[in-house]
Amino acid sequence: MSTDAKPVSATRLVMAQEMTPQDANPAGNVHGGNIMRLADSAAGVVAIRHSGRNCVTAAVDHFEFHAPVFIGNLVTFHASVNYVGRTSMEVGVRVEAEEPRTGKGPTRIRPIS
Ligand SMILES: CC(C)(COP(=O)(O)OP(=O)(O)OC[C@H]1O[C@@H](n2cnc3c(N)ncnc32)[C@H](O)[C@@H]1OP(=O)(O)O)[C@@H](O)C(=O)NCCC(=O)NCCS
Repeated sequence: MSTDAKPVSATRLVMAQEMTPQDANPAGNVHGGNIMRLADSAAGVVAIRHSGRNCVTAAVDHFEFHAPVFIGNLVTFHASVNYVGRTSMEVGVRVEAEEPRTGKGPTRIRPIS
């Protein structure tokens, strides 16, 4: 890893993405695996920024889905380093979803009829 010390704030990442029909599961909600993939990407960018090296994911400790996310919702990933070891890092990712028209929690958008 790079020997230059960096504060957590220097390498944190905020990444937002609108959920599209391509992100849906057969029930029409956002597929959790897509959210996991994006969270892993955000964590990977933070790890690379922090270490100045290529990085891989060795393990994911914990993943919890508190509420469903719907197509059209905006999902924001807040990723930052929690801990730095000798050659490894722990990166935390907080995922938030909102209905962008209201700024409130995820809701299913009713199609205009
Ligand atoms: C991750 C990987 C490089 C670890 O290799 P390894 O031979 O176990 O490496 P080491 O034993 O030297 O451990 C290196 C560091 O990783 C940490 N580590 C290894 N496996 C870990 C695990 N399952 N969970 C948490 N940390 C782990 C070690 O604690 C060590 O940390 P430190 O240097 O800060 O003390 C190897 O398992 C690998 O390449 N896995 C595949 C990764 C991948 O393809 N991910 C998906 C695509 S990104």
